[in-house]
Amino acid sequence: MDEELLRQARFAAVYAHVPHSGFPVGAVVVGHDGQAYRGCNVESASFGLTVCAERVAIYAAIASGAKPVSIAVSCTEGDLSDSASLMPCGACRQVMIDHMDPDAAVFVDGVGEFTVKDLMPKGFRLRSRRGEVAVEG
Ligand code: THU
Repeated sequence: MDEELLRQARFAAVYAHVPHSGFPVGAVVVGHDGQAYRGCNVESASFGLTVCAERVAIYAAIASGAKPVSIAVSCTEGDLSDSASLMPCGACRQVMIDHMDPDAAVFVDGVGEFTVKDLMPKGFRLRSRRGEVAVEG
């Protein structure tokens, strides 16, 4: 477990905008450049527009030209006796396989360490037909 990264994920949850659920989530992605990219969940009055912390962090890395190499997630007010309430949702797992190596580490606060492949076995990947934008590393 990467305890330091989990600590940063807990801190990222401080900025969560959760007027509807009251359920803050924080995430931190480490990019191939060694930088940390933070995310928190941001809810909308139009509920379906809500974005999860994991996707905010992954897209923050992408928007800076960094390939996400690992991610830590913390549901800071989740129920530690119910691990399902602490795990990344299905939409975020899809975005993990969109942008991360199948063997990349996913650290889930209060639960444990997984790989992207553990969380999304037999996931959907679309081979680029237009050429990938290359990032170093
Ligand atoms: N949420 C996340 O940020 N990540 C997940 O993987 C699961 C759910 C957020 C969305 C919403 O703001 C709140 O948690 C309750 O579902």
